[in-house]
Amino acid sequence: MMYLERRKSKVGRNDLCPCGSGRKYKKCCLKKGSVANPKNIKEYYFKKHKIRLKDPKDIEGIRGCGRLVIETLDLVEAALKPGISTDDINILIHEHTVKNHAIPAPLHYRGFPKSSCVSVNEVICHGIPNARVLDDGDIVNVDVTSVLDGYYADANKTFFVGRPGPEAQKIVHVAFESLRLGMAMVRPGNTIGDIGWAIQNYAESQGCSVVREFVGHGVGFAFHESPQVPHYGDRGEGVVMTPGMVFTVEPMINLGRKDLKVLEDKWTAVTKDGSLSAQFEQTVLVTETGFESMTPYDLATGAPLKEPLIGMDR
Ligand code: MF3
Ligand code: CO
Ligand code: CO
Repeated sequence: MMYLERRKSKVGRNDLCPCGSGRKYKKCCLKKGSVANPKNIKEYYFKKHKIRLKDPKDIEGIRGCGRLVIETLDLVEAALKPGISTDDINILIHEHTVKNHAIPAPLHYRGFPKSSCVSVNEVICHGIPNARVLDDGDIVNVDVTSVLDGYYADANKTFFVGRPGPEAQKIVHVAFESLRLGMAMVRPGNTIGDIGWAIQNYAESQGCSVVREFVGHGVGFAFHESPQVPHYGDRGEGVVMTPGMVFTVEPMINLGRKDLKVLEDKWTAVTKDGSLSAQFEQTVLVTETGFESMTPYDLATGAPLKEPLIGMDR
């Protein structure tokens, strides 16, 4: 595989040092002959950041799981129409997942009772599927995480039900662009903070707000791994990205204020001011040159992709 070959290439002498010092590699760990030497970069990321870098076999596993996740989201999209309940959506997801010899990761995760999260209108995330029926003009976020051959992939999209009003169109557009701009920051040498900075900068410029309480996360061997990936912050903050890192970017963007409350069920997070909230999520791999999405859908149209979605350094 292409990735296998590239993986052997070293951190360049003039690249940012993967230890996160902000200095050039040649002026830092290469010179010191210390921990961030590429020979033990995997060990270094685990020791220092608790981040488990993925090898080519793992990546193939996560990619395969991601394919199923996207296929499942497509199935949901095709079935969406006014009159369908959030439970109906959950059943579709559950059945498609198990039919493909995979496990729906949310089911019984920390007591979560269903196989997916379905979040309508002012629900930010972690909506529990129930008898609620979708109406013309609603927006609905559907979040699918599957486990296939032991590997996890996690993605979500916000869909329109019937015809969207102007507020629905705006928040879905801003959330979608937030994911695109966040993912565009993913490349070796950039930091996790660069992602949040790009998202916050854009979303707030559109008069929207970024949810703070929920963040993206490492994924692949487990549902939620290190690092945390905030969707706000400053450039240069946080861990330096290095090839083999796999994590989600999943900005939750509110039309009104950023504050949330969690309902009595201990899961459903809603906007405090009742404004609409939208989210898009993909699982991304840091490659030698940028990123590859493990759960690719088109970041211009939202359409599923047959080809790999690969971002490159400009
Ligand atoms: N899929 C969500 C995420 O993107 C997590 C859902 S946890 C659950 O991280 F328990 F609600 F499923
Ligand atoms: Co996630
Ligand atoms: Co998710």
